[in-house]
Amino acid sequence: MSATTDNKRLTIRDIHALRRGGEKIAMLTAYDYVTAGLVDQSGVDIILVGDSLGNVVLGYETTLPVTLDDMIRHASAVYRGTTRAMVVCDLPFGTARDPETALSSAITVLQQSGCQAVKIEGGGAAAPIVARLVEQGIPVMGHIGLTPQAVHQLGGYYKHGRDAPAAQELIAAARDLQKAGAFALVLEFIVPEVAAEITRQLDIPTIGIGSGPDCAGQVLVINDLIGLNTRPVPGFARPRADVAAIIRQAVGEYVSDVKQHATAQTKEAAIG
Ligand code: KIV
Repeated sequence: MSATTDNKRLTIRDIHALRRGGEKIAMLTAYDYVTAGLVDQSGVDIILVGDSLGNVVLGYETTLPVTLDDMIRHASAVYRGTTRAMVVCDLPFGTARDPETALSSAITVLQQSGCQAVKIEGGGAAAPIVARLVEQGIPVMGHIGLTPQAVHQLGGYYKHGRDAPAAQELIAAARDLQKAGAFALVLEFIVPEVAAEITRQLDIPTIGIGSGPDCAGQVLVINDLIGLNTRPVPGFARPRADVAAIIRQAVGEYVSDVKQHATAQTKEAAIG
């Protein structure tokens, strides 16, 4: 089933219609023109230009060094490569630290990349920031649970909502973000039962990653889905292809062809 009958780009109204109709929402990250085009042609509903860009494309250890300019450059390429999926851009570390900074960052992203919405990491404390952007007509996706921009405060990457107080805090944060006007909520690495309960309590769609099957949709980092990595992938990501092996094989064959050709030329030159 498709969210729209014509070929127009999906909007938050289409995403909400999927949720109301009980159809799961498929979201994937993309960071460049070609990959985004392929993802778009394959029927994904939302493409997230995630600040995971820092890990999987730019080679940083964390997402913290990613800048707004990095996001805009990649989000513009993704937007140019797509026609159907809704495109959402992450606001990277420090660019949504208070409502006015977030508003200025979001305006710059929407004006310069063409993206339709921004994503902001953070629990209940992010609600006033979300509200400020929504008040200005900017759609915002929230993001709770494992929030990689807070890795140093969290002390690592682990599953969230393991005990009752932690679960209650996540549920309260989800409700606050919905009340602030978030149009959807990423639930990253949350105990599946807690993610299911959040999904049950909210009207807006939850998009899970490593949070069990009962969210309104699912998201993955494209590199983890297609096996395009040189570093280990998170345990919850089950790659459906081994693109890294295909690249190594093609490049290996090319290198050996080039070397053989060079050897043949050297021999010819030696014979005269
Ligand atoms: O940056 C990112 O790719 C994300 C997804 C993992 C949700 O935030």
